[in-house]
Amino acid sequence: MTSSVTVRVPAKINLMLQVGPLLPDGYHHLATVFHAVSVFDEVTATVTDPEVGDDDISVTVEGPGAADVPLDDSNLAVRAAVLLSDYAGGREPVRLHIRKGIPVAGGMAGGSADAAGALLACDALWRARVGRPRLFEVAAELGADVPFALLGGTAVGSGRGDRLTPALARGDYHWVIALAGRGLATPDVYKELDRLRSGRVLPQPRVPVSMMQALRRGDPDSVGALLSNDLQPATLSLLPDLERTLAVGTEYGALGGVVSGSGPTVVFLARDPEHALDLSVALTASGAAAEVRRVRGPVPGARIVPSAHGEADS
Ligand code: C5P
Repeated sequence: MTSSVTVRVPAKINLMLQVGPLLPDGYHHLATVFHAVSVFDEVTATVTDPEVGDDDISVTVEGPGAADVPLDDSNLAVRAAVLLSDYAGGREPVRLHIRKGIPVAGGMAGGSADAAGALLACDALWRARVGRPRLFEVAAELGADVPFALLGGTAVGSGRGDRLTPALARGDYHWVIALAGRGLATPDVYKELDRLRSGRVLPQPRVPVSMMQALRRGDPDSVGALLSNDLQPATLSLLPDLERTLAVGTEYGALGGVVSGSGPTVVFLARDPEHALDLSVALTASGAAAEVRRVRGPVPGARIVPSAHGEADS
């Protein structure tokens, strides 16, 4: 019998993000282009023995920022497993273990990645076989970014960001990501945006045709020039030091630089792997980032990691 399943899930960045007005449900309508990049969390689900008195669904976390991840029922991976077991009509107790590679509270959807990982891992472990369309529905109930963590690649997001259409995108993109020494809570950034824009009439959010054309051509110069994020002024208002991070990237010839999602992570597009190395050295030397990493995109969404024995541990 399968007793353990591990799923690898990528982080996301937003190549563009337009945010509409605040809606009565506390969310905002978005138009965005998601892009999955090669920074990963791993979520392992293991069947536990109820006789030992384990909780129905428990979680442990390791890696950078692990101490900031809640271990109670508010953990998004735990919520994902609970919601899936409701859909599947109850299943064996599981222990979830998360290995963090995605920065915590960094604007790269790390919590959403863990939820997507838990969904896929528990679906396989419990042989629930709820099917892709249902899995995406459950994902959207958990959070706006969870469906994209399942899908991966490059995709247009609308609604809360949970309605997805895969984008026709060509080419590999080389990114340098600058991590800040602290995190930001997404709701705080949206709140700051609402404050900064209060009284303004806002246009309907939309993805510019020029961005879709640039992606279709696989044209990094144009994609770099078109990077944009409506949340950026709010993030910079909360963390003004990020202005300097953005300036250093621009000075060293990044094709474009932008705050990722609600931040505080800043991403820069490089011309090629060599340029990405130069940029990352310059950013590290400047001291304008707590940590700098080189990543590439697009990468696939959540996938089961084959074990030595086949699809999953037995
Ligand atoms: O969906 P998720 O839990 O990831 O969203 C976190 C917070 O981000 C929400 O509680 C809300 O404050 C904000 N948000 C929003 N509009 C969206 C997505 C997120 O206001 N479309």
